[in-house]
Amino acid sequence: MPRLLRHERREAVLELRRPRGVQAAELQWRRRGRLLRRLLRLRALTRPAPGLDSPAVSAVPVERVDDLQAYAEAVASCTRCRLSQGRTQVVFGAGNPHAELMFVGEAPGFHEDKQGLPFVGQAGKLLEKLLAGIGLARGDVYIANVLKCRPPGNRDPQPDEIEACESHLFRQIELIEPTIVATLGNFATKLLSGRPLGITRVHGQEQQTTLGGRSVTLYPLYHPAAALYTPAMLKVLESDFTRIPELLGRVLTPPEPELALVAEPATPPAEQLGLF
Ligand code: URA
Repeated sequence: MPRLLRHERREAVLELRRPRGVQAAELQWRRRGRLLRRLLRLRALTRPAPGLDSPAVSAVPVERVDDLQAYAEAVASCTRCRLSQGRTQVVFGAGNPHAELMFVGEAPGFHEDKQGLPFVGQAGKLLEKLLAGIGLARGDVYIANVLKCRPPGNRDPQPDEIEACESHLFRQIELIEPTIVATLGNFATKLLSGRPLGITRVHGQEQQTTLGGRSVTLYPLYHPAAALYTPAMLKVLESDFTRIPELLGRVLTPPEPELALVAEPATPPAEQLGLF
């Protein structure tokens, strides 16, 4: 099982012992981000394969990565709806196939359709900035959309297009097995929550739901493209984003016993425990 390196363990202990308010906020976030990224990677590597109880038997679930890749290749020639006729290519999704945190947007736009990757335009830049603000990068998460093909002129997805495409998304979630699915905007939120409540009502309110046969935390957020042009919405989105580490902490367990042991003598403030 992978272990934290000596300096990382020391860093984790220091982080747990650090008195409140001693560090500058920026330094604190950088540390938390590094530690969180490391924990996310360890967690992904030590997660039991489906059907296995003991983390000791867990192998890196290579089959799931292969399955995801094979599924992406199959979807690349999808013709289930009219959008296949106007697309440059299918935008399947991208990121860490073992991600704990998955984002689901609406549909590819102009740049995504050209490059074959989700969120590579202005909204994507904002998403990356928001991720950086909580110490994460694109490679730490998985990003996909409700629709895999660009609607003409970036119009809203039509109900029959969503219906034709949704099983691709559900299969992706099944294979990636994220613990948190952050939905960006109305379409992803309504589809994955199975409820008609709009994003203005439900943003920032996590809910447990079952996706891909597993219990996941659904975390609805405003769509970055909407926030780009509405400063008030951007503020809310930024604020909702700051809760993501806490939500990840809630589902992450310390990946190795030593971490808990070395942390024992100090009594860390409750808010720091939230990191794990
Ligand atoms: N908006 C989305 O919803 N998805 C993308 O991939 C890009 C912009």
